[in-house]
Amino acid sequence: MSPRVVLVGPPGSGKSTVGALLARRWDVGFRDTDADIAAAAGMTIPDIFLTHGEDHFRALERDAVATALATHDGVLALGGGAVMADATRALLADHTVVFLSVELTAAVGRVGLGAGRPLLAVNPRATMKALLEQRRPLYREIADFEIATDGTTPEQVADEIARWT
Ligand code: S3P
Repeated sequence: MSPRVVLVGPPGSGKSTVGALLARRWDVGFRDTDADIAAAAGMTIPDIFLTHGEDHFRALERDAVATALATHDGVLALGGGAVMADATRALLADHTVVFLSVELTAAVGRVGLGAGRPLLAVNPRATMKALLEQRRPLYREIADFEIATDGTTPEQVADEIARWT
């Protein structure tokens, strides 16, 4: 089993919105590894970061991605930082991966002041800028397609993915 498409991209790139639209259009399930991690841990993502730290979260995330890749055949969205772990990127090698890219201003506008996103809790704009620059090459390393989501609606992005995949 393999997801029909795996969506990656930074916070605010629209993975959840576009993923849900695509799943409805294809009449398949939508799964989000952040939700899987929170459900398995019985804690919110910010609480996992606060209590156990980012390294622990990345290890849970790697396991959640491995499980979802093996058991889900619909649309799968990963947390924005999943690509940070070499082991998680390696898992994605044989899957259809779409990178939803977004420029700084749109990303900050979409995530607001970082509520619910522990890495963006302090200096959201500066942190987002650093995060976009650091991660862009990692998203590109694993993606089969890249779509800029600035100035487009989630419906248009979903249309484009459906045309490509
Ligand atoms: C993270 C992004 C979040 C979530 C966690 C860490 C990141 O997912 O996995 O807060 O490192 O960018 P979203 O991309 O869905 O916000």
